[in-house]
Amino acid sequence: MKLFIDSGNLKDIQALADTGIIDGVTTNPSLLAKEPGDHRDILKKICEMVKGPVSGEVTATDLAGMLQQGRDLAAIDAHMVVKVPLTRDGIRACKALSSEGIRVNVTLCFSAAQALLAAKAGAAFVSPFVGRLDDIGSTGMDLIREVVEIYRNYPFKTEVLVASCRNPIHVVEAARLGAGVATCPPSVIDQLFNHPLTSIGLEKFLKDWEKAQNVKA
Ligand code: G3P
Repeated sequence: MKLFIDSGNLKDIQALADTGIIDGVTTNPSLLAKEPGDHRDILKKICEMVKGPVSGEVTATDLAGMLQQGRDLAAIDAHMVVKVPLTRDGIRACKALSSEGIRVNVTLCFSAAQALLAAKAGAAFVSPFVGRLDDIGSTGMDLIREVVEIYRNYPFKTEVLVASCRNPIHVVEAARLGAGVATCPPSVIDQLFNHPLTSIGLEKFLKDWEKAQNVKA
């Protein structure tokens, strides 16, 4: 499973890209609004850092606007993926941009029916938001199970990109279900590294080693 960072923060992205386990980045207007500077410059720098798919989202809601912004985002770098919302015009934009060879990530997906439309429109990625479904008392991972099952029945090329991951359990469940990608905020990726028994075990190994060196000295 590929692991993407869900962030527009260059410092956080660089720190995680340095670990060598990051495959791409997703951004959205809320994330980029928090960062100083021009969004096109930020996206360009992210592309250069990760050298993998980087999603930048359109803010237009009509077809013509999405096509214009989508082409503009795609022109930033060859790694750019254009994110469009799962609306009727978003699906039309996905079909048109995909047929021009631009990779599209259809975002704000909350049902299997919507995910089916994204695949039919030629999306490179579909982004079901698991955390936001959990927030309203639904089980986000049930949607991932359904979408993965549906996509396996047909030769769709669309990858299931599990978005709105809020904790390591979301990531592990996404991997168990065979989703193509999980995108996580830096804090959740940090959590993936940690286990108390790793820290306790390492501390004991080092103490025992030090004790033995003192005895030998
Ligand atoms: O990029 C989309 C997504 O991952 C948003 O996550 O936590 O704002 O629901 P969240």
